[in-house]
Amino acid sequence: MSDIDIIGQYREQFVTHLQTRTKLGEPKNLYEPVHYILGLGGKRMRPILTLMTAKAFGVKAEDALDAALAVEMFHNFSLVHDDIMDDAPLRRGKTTVHERWDVNTGILSGDAMLILSYQFFESYPAETYKELTKLFSKTALEVCEGQQYDVDFETRDDVTIPEYLKMIEYKTSVLVAAAMKMGAIVAQASKKDANAIYEFGRNLGIAFQLQDDYLDAFGDPKTFGKQVGGDIMENKKTYLFLKSLEKASKDDQDGLLHLYSIKPEDSTAKVEAVKTIFKESGAVEETKKAIQEFTQKAFDALAETNLPDKNKALLKQFGESLMERTV
Ligand code: IPE
Ligand code: IPE
Ligand code: MG
Ligand code: MG
Ligand code: MG
Repeated sequence: MSDIDIIGQYREQFVTHLQTRTKLGEPKNLYEPVHYILGLGGKRMRPILTLMTAKAFGVKAEDALDAALAVEMFHNFSLVHDDIMDDAPLRRGKTTVHERWDVNTGILSGDAMLILSYQFFESYPAETYKELTKLFSKTALEVCEGQQYDVDFETRDDVTIPEYLKMIEYKTSVLVAAAMKMGAIVAQASKKDANAIYEFGRNLGIAFQLQDDYLDAFGDPKTFGKQVGGDIMENKKTYLFLKSLEKASKDDQDGLLHLYSIKPEDSTAKVEAVKTIFKESGAVEETKKAIQEFTQKAFDALAETNLPDKNKALLKQFGESLMERTV
């Protein structure tokens, strides 16, 4: 079987499990949005990574299904609340929960998803349960910290690259890292291997968020599934923005700072002007370089594990495919 087929099989196995483990209860206005967002699909990359890691470390993927589900449920919760915070109209090509229902529904359904995600760990034996929930709580709190930095940075004009990297590490990459480490925990891998696989996920997650920022500005609206230009509209201090400030001419720097201090009713002209500066300053190239660098760091961490070569190759191939995505 080709590696692509193997990944597709994990996805299918996961989605079947998701469908059997989540039932539509009452009240409808609480649970319908939960089903709606989970049913919109997405890449399912975090749960796939949990299953792949468990299998790579020698247990059946099935053993990790509930941990994978916890991670995906948490991820979807974070998206529902993130879309409220980012005032986003589109998610996975469809209307966001708070736009289709309302903000209060998004808040409460999101809360329910966060609680549901913890419940999925209850199927594990006491020791594993403790290890999984401990990692999960630490991770979830870091995601909140990352999200708060992200929002705080919108109204600051002195954000540095190290601050930005810490922000995306927290809001995005620690969950990717934890998804993998949970697979290692379920498989009772050695501490050294569990930590090395966490490092793989952490660096891959940073590359992934850099790529997300790039696609947010330059992705194809037909495939991306989110509002292209949304980060620019919200004055998000992305790597593209910070590198542009470093590298652009003085005039363009001033222009960019001005554009990032306003939120016009019609943002078309602003988005186009900002994208031109991103391109002409060389920030696009810098961002692509950084994506490569963090992907390489991820692969270096993977090499440190005791996994058999063919298992390493599969994880590496999955990492590479993520960096070629348009979604
Ligand atoms: C979106 O995550 C949020 C980020 C951390 C960039 P994904 O790009 O994994 O979203 P889905 O689940 O595939 O839709
Ligand atoms: C998402 O960051 C991080 C979390 C949801 C925790 P973004 O705001 O960039 O994600 P998208 O682009 O809306 O998916
Ligand atoms: Mg967002
Ligand atoms: Mg956000
Ligand atoms: Mg984004």
